Amino acid sequence: MSLHVVFGATGGIGRALTDELVRRGERVRAVSRSGTPLEGAEAMAADVRDDQAAGRAASGAGVVYHCVNPGYTKWPQLLPLVSRSILTAAQSAGAKLVYADNLYAYGPVDGPLHEDLPAAATGRKGRARAQVAAELLAADARVTIGRASDYYGPHGRTSNAGETLFGRLVAGKRPIWLGPPDLPHTLHYLPDVARGLIVLAERDEADGQVWHLPAVKTITPEHFVEIAADAAGVETQVQTIPRLALTVGGVFSPMLRELRETQYQFRAPFVSDSSKFESAFGPFQCTAHRDAVRATVEWYSR
Ligand SMILES: NC(=O)c1ccc[n+]([C@@H]2O[C@H](COP(=O)([O-])OP(=O)(O)OC[C@H]3O[C@@H](n4cnc5c(N)ncnc54)[C@H](OP(=O)(O)O)[C@@H]3O)[C@@H](O)[C@H]2O)c1
Repeated sequence: MSLHVVFGATGGIGRALTDELVRRGERVRAVSRSGTPLEGAEAMAADVRDDQAAGRAASGAGVVYHCVNPGYTKWPQLLPLVSRSILTAAQSAGAKLVYADNLYAYGPVDGPLHEDLPAAATGRKGRARAQVAAELLAADARVTIGRASDYYGPHGRTSNAGETLFGRLVAGKRPIWLGPPDLPHTLHYLPDVARGLIVLAERDEADGQVWHLPAVKTITPEHFVEIAADAAGVETQVQTIPRLALTVGGVFSPMLRELRETQYQFRAPFVSDSSKFESAFGPFQCTAHRDAVRATVEWYSR
């Protein structure tokens, strides 16, 4: 039975992936710096900034998943480093590498985001994402990349639709959204992201390419919060962060400063097109927002 090694297994995507692989009866090694145990998986502590540690953690793998997020403000310094380390570890193990990516590499575009767009980002985080994707795809290895927009779901605290949206909602506060709430914005449900990445792991045709992971039909954050409020049994409205607040707040807060780069994602429609995935691999049943939101509200309310 093939061993699946999930790097970043305690994060939003890594945790959903680990849970789904375990649910399917797969052998899973769940790797993070903390080595936090996850039910049904072998837990291992490894800091992937150390390529020897990454190599030991990937030993025996048939598939390696890169779900490490080295900290939102540190991507230019750390994302290329940890990605090379995980790539080398996968190569040494003779494993296929599946990289959980986002949509930053394209930079601002008109219209839906699709895989044929150039990696035209000019901001420091977008350039780091583009560099990592290009390096991984150019490597002498079996690599596939699955891209998702902002995610939500159980354990998905760090996303823009995580603690600041669901966490605040269940705490009786207004959910925060980073731009006008009436612009369509694709949101991925974590268990759907996990299932999409597993398709990429299983299918040879996925190798050497970028794929946008399927998500349920894009709606506006306003509508999304209505669904969430309904599930939580509360009445609320989205609170928007004005552009000026990010500009001023960014002087003092590194996190707010970083968010300025990606303002374009929240000030125009941000819609991910996953038709390439579905054309290649067949229909993919995504979880309806209503069901996914209910499960997420339940998790935040525990
Ligand atoms: N946030 C989103 O909406 C979104 C959407 C699409 C794609 N993505 C991308 O998907 C990837 C995973 O993101 P995420 O949001 O799921 O991550 P996350 O929730 O921030 O969790 C990060 C994971 O990486 C581990 N980690 C961090 N530094 C490490 C190191 N040096 N060595 C080993 N493990 C390390 C963390 O565990 P320890 O802290 O214990 O080490 C944790 O398991 C990232 O590339 C992210 O940009 C995110």
